[in-house]
Amino acid sequence: MERYVMKGGTPLRGEVVIGGAKNAALGLLAAAVMTDEKVKIDNLPDVRDINVLLSAIEGIGATVNRIDAHTVEICGKGIHGLSVDYEYIKKIRASYYLLGALLGKYKKAEVALPGGCDIGSRPIDLHLKGFRALGANVEISHGLISAKADRLVGNHIYMDKVSVGATINVLMAATLAEGKTVIENAAKEPHVVDVANFLNSMGANIRGAGTDVIRIVGVEKLHGTEYSVIPDQIEAGTFMFAAAATHGDVTVRNVIPKHLEATTAKLLEAGCQVIEFDDAVRVIAAEPLKPTQVTTLPYPGFPTDMQPQMAIVLALAEGTSTITESIFENRFRYVDELARMGANIKVESNIAIINGIEKYTGARVSAPDLRAGAALVIAGLAADGVTEVDDIQYIQRGYERFEEKLRGLGATIERVANDHDAQKFKLKVS
Ligand code: UD1
Repeated sequence: MERYVMKGGTPLRGEVVIGGAKNAALGLLAAAVMTDEKVKIDNLPDVRDINVLLSAIEGIGATVNRIDAHTVEICGKGIHGLSVDYEYIKKIRASYYLLGALLGKYKKAEVALPGGCDIGSRPIDLHLKGFRALGANVEISHGLISAKADRLVGNHIYMDKVSVGATINVLMAATLAEGKTVIENAAKEPHVVDVANFLNSMGANIRGAGTDVIRIVGVEKLHGTEYSVIPDQIEAGTFMFAAAATHGDVTVRNVIPKHLEATTAKLLEAGCQVIEFDDAVRVIAAEPLKPTQVTTLPYPGFPTDMQPQMAIVLALAEGTSTITESIFENRFRYVDELARMGANIKVESNIAIINGIEKYTGARVSAPDLRAGAALVIAGLAADGVTEVDDIQYIQRGYERFEEKLRGLGATIERVANDHDAQKFKLKVS
C-alpha cells in the first residue's frame, strides 16, 4: 500500500496554487445531469472522490467527456438507469446527490443507502424529509432509498439542523418542482452557493443561497452551461496551517479570502501574521505559537473539516488550548496517532484539551480519514526525524498532487509504494 514518507523540520516557504473545491464540484457534477444539454465544468480537482462520482454518472447512462484533468463535459441526455449502485455510494457518500438531481428531473430515483462513515454517525433524515415535503414518496428497503413522485410541488421546508448535504439535495429537487420552495435554516457554505449559482446558470430560479433562507421558484427544464468551480477553502486552509506548524511563510494563491475568514481569525489568535490579497493569502508563522479556543460550527463558523489541521498547530503552542467539535462526534480519532508523535492531547466527550509541546517526533502513523490524514502529514513536516503516514488513499480522496505541492514549498516528502522504497528514502535523508 502506498504511503507518504517525509523528513520534518524544514519551514515551508513559497507559493502554492489551490485547486477547485471538491465539495462544490461533487454537487455541481450531480446537478449537471439535470439537463439534456451539454454542460462544461472546469477548475475541477483531479481527486479520487470526483473520479468516483464521474463513474457513477457514467454508470446511469450520462456521457462524460474528460477534456483534461480539470475539465469535463457532461451530457445527461442518455440517462437510462435511475438507480445508483452501492459500489459508488460506499466509496463516496456524495453520490447521494444524484437522488435529488434524478428525482427533480425524472420524478423518480433510487440510490443505495450510504453506509456508516468514520467521522461519526451521518444520518440522512433531513434529505428525506425535504423530498417528502416536495411530495415524493420515499422508502428505504433492501439497502436502497427509493423516491418517487407523480408531481413534485414546492413547499416550505425547515431544516432541523444545518446540513450542507440536505440543503444541496433538496435544492436540486426543488429546482424542477412546480411552484415555490422555501428552505429555512439552510446551510450557508460557499459550496451551497456555488451549486445554486451553477443551477441558476442553467436556467434555475434560486435566490438567497448563502443566507439561511433559500427561495426557489421551480422551472420546467434546465439548459446547458459552462461553469468554473470555486477554489477549495479546505485545501487552502490546510496549507495555511502547514505554514504555521512548520514555522514557515507561505502564500496560498487562487483563493477567495472571504471563505477563509474563520481560519484566518484562528491563525491570528495563534499569533501568526496573515496578509490578504485579492485572490491570495500569505501566512507568516508565529514564534512561539499562542494557545486558543476553537469550536467547529456551520459556515461562517470554523469548519469541522479544518479541525484536525488546527489541532496540529495548537499542539505546538505555548500553553493549553481547547477544540470543541460540534458537528461530528467521532472526529478526534487522529489524537491517538498524534500521541505517537509526542502530542499531549486529552479528549473528553467532544472537547480536546491540548497542552502544547515543543516538537513532534517522527513516527509511523495511519490516516484515519481524509482531513485527519492531511493533518498528520503536516505534523510529520513539523516533526524531528522521519514520519511515515499509512492509508493515504483517504488523503487522495480530496487533495490533488498533495506531496508535489508540499515539495514545491520545500518539504522533503515522497509517496512510496513499499517498505523498500521507504527505506531508500530514509537512507537518502539520513
Ligand atoms: C459536508 C461535507 C463534509 C463536511 C460537512 C460539514 C460534502 C461532500 N461534505 O458533509 O466534508 O465535514 O459538510 O461541514 O460537502 N445531519 C443530520 N441529518 C441529515 C444530515 C445531516 O442530522 O439528514 C447532521 C450530521 O450528522 C452532522 C450535521 O448535520 O452533525 C452536518 O452534516 P452535513 O452538513 O449534512 O454534512 P455532509 O453534507 O454530509
